[in-house]
Amino acid sequence: MQERIVSAKRQPEDDPQVELGLRPRIFNEYIGQEKIKEKLAIYITAARERKEALDHVLLYGPPGLGKTTLAHIIAGELGVSIRVTSGPAIERPGDLAAILTNLGRGDVLFIDEIHRLNRSVEEILYPAMEDFALDIIIGKGPGARSLRLELPAFTLIGATVRAGMLTSPLRDRFGVVDRLDYYSPAELEAIIVRSASILNVAVEAEGARAVAAASRGTPRVANRLLKRVRDYAQVKADNIISEAVALEALQMLQLDRLGLDEIDRRLLLVLIEKFEGGPVGLETLAAAISEEPETLEDVYEPYLMKLGFLKRTPRGRAATREAYAYLGLAAKEYPQLKLW
Ligand code: ADE
Repeated sequence: MQERIVSAKRQPEDDPQVELGLRPRIFNEYIGQEKIKEKLAIYITAARERKEALDHVLLYGPPGLGKTTLAHIIAGELGVSIRVTSGPAIERPGDLAAILTNLGRGDVLFIDEIHRLNRSVEEILYPAMEDFALDIIIGKGPGARSLRLELPAFTLIGATVRAGMLTSPLRDRFGVVDRLDYYSPAELEAIIVRSASILNVAVEAEGARAVAAASRGTPRVANRLLKRVRDYAQVKADNIISEAVALEALQMLQLDRLGLDEIDRRLLLVLIEKFEGGPVGLETLAAAISEEPETLEDVYEPYLMKLGFLKRTPRGRAATREAYAYLGLAAKEYPQLKLW
């Protein structure tokens, strides 16, 4: 079982990942997701005043939007420790039992990719979440007995890309369910300016705007791009990220101005050229570009849909007129062009 134990009160210098240095550690440093922050701050204050554990929280939304970061911030603001693990890392019920019995009162247990929990593990979680109890079966066959162990009150924070991937008994046991949305260009720009100051690199407003525009609405992408653009600025320019430097670096990374990469463009082109713009089934489309259907569905499609380039229809995926226009394909070359 793979697991990381992290104290919510750690200093950035202790962070195993460089990226964590860029992660905000309190709500005040966290840019965007205003509604969610506002609600969580109220629930946290209320729980602290009552000296109770915060109710269980489910955070869902596309990868890289800050679900893990929010979990760390919640634990920090509650003043408790956080234990970090993930659905696939908890292989057996005993693994989860070991984690649960080691939690302190009020602690946060963060399970990333919670939709990937084993069925048998998930069943242990129900009484743990609802009654803070662990039901253990001792022995086998007719002689087997069930034993109930009390657990300290704790807060489970689950993260997943889509709430619909959870079984309903699990989903129903979360008192707080929030969807993280893509960040606006202005929010991403602010994140880039903040990260640039932590990374000690000069960025001009237009440079930050260009990097933000290519960040797919996602802070994780913004920070990754910023680091690559910083490398470029250091070696090819005078360490200043101007708009021109940012655009040159993005070109080197083979990203277009909207941050679409090879795979995004191939997906749209294959959809248009091989399948006449669609609709075509997810599996067929995934096979045509040699990607996993789940990767298409969770990673590539949400951003293409947000841009208005792709539609999910009852009969499958379809390219929009905007996708044709963006790729510079003339409508007359594609008489079958569908106007959605
Ligand atoms: N770094 C990554 N995500 C961030 C966010 N939402 N606000 C500030 N910095 C971040």
